[in-house]
Amino acid sequence: MQTTETISALRNEINLWRQQGLKIAFVPTMGNLHQGHIALVEKAKMLADKVVASIFVNPMQFGANEDIGSYPRTMAADQEKLKAAGCDLLFTPTPAIIYPKGLDKQSYVEVPNVSDGYCGESRPGHFRGVATVVCKLFNIVQPNIACFGLKDYQQVQVIQTMVEDLSMPIEIIAVETVREASGLALSSRNNYLTPEEKQTAPALSQNIQWLAKAIQSDSDFIGLAKQAASYIDNAGMKTDYIHICHARTLQPASEDDKELVILAAAHCGKARLIDNLQVTLT
Ligand code: PAJ
Repeated sequence: MQTTETISALRNEINLWRQQGLKIAFVPTMGNLHQGHIALVEKAKMLADKVVASIFVNPMQFGANEDIGSYPRTMAADQEKLKAAGCDLLFTPTPAIIYPKGLDKQSYVEVPNVSDGYCGESRPGHFRGVATVVCKLFNIVQPNIACFGLKDYQQVQVIQTMVEDLSMPIEIIAVETVREASGLALSSRNNYLTPEEKQTAPALSQNIQWLAKAIQSDSDFIGLAKQAASYIDNAGMKTDYIHICHARTLQPASEDDKELVILAAAHCGKARLIDNLQVTLT
């Protein structure tokens, strides 16, 4: 596996592949890789001839009071994991390569509606930062397909909407969330959990599952979501939000909707954890 920091070296390599008619898959990440990221690389490997990954801790998607300074950076270990998973090319740009004029003068991509609530509300500007960097990375790599994890469900909808609205010729592949045996979704931010908090954190996915069962027989979505939030709080976390939404538009679910998603975020000690579950009402 080759690693490159520059756009021109990356493009040269990818152009050679494109001339050979090879199908190219792309997996963007912020590094500190775990089995959730690796599942994306494995999926990409199955669907394409060549896999390009990127590691870039994107300053544009972090708020002023967020954890960009302490975000875990483990480049050497990440390279080993990518190599073992069969990644062909790794792009590790610096902020100056991605944002040469600085963030203030940078053009941006704003995806309306799906970016608005939930994590978009708790983290103003977050999805603008995500859409902008992913758009730039798509233009740099020009892949045929790109893999994203359903752990970040709202992010997948933002990217899918951007690709549709801006007619980008890229197929978005959504990959199932990889979890620990406890049900806790793997996340780089799990590193912030103390051993005690690690015992508490599975309460998020457990209560989402409780809610998924409860809404099969009771349409009081708002009341049940409030109840789930209080269970999460009683377990020792602090619920940021838990909502039952239309699976594609992410609007609050109405009684007639059948394809739903439960979106939730909660603070556990220093970590802000997110999780979700798609539900089909039967
Ligand atoms: P990051 O948090 O590093 O995640 C990179 C990719 O891995 C995302 O598509 C994310 O959904 C996926 N992922 C993370 N945990 C997962 C898990 N437990 N199971 C399955 N997939 C998982 O998401 C980002 O980076 C950034 O916002 C990025 C898209 C790279 C733009 O900067």
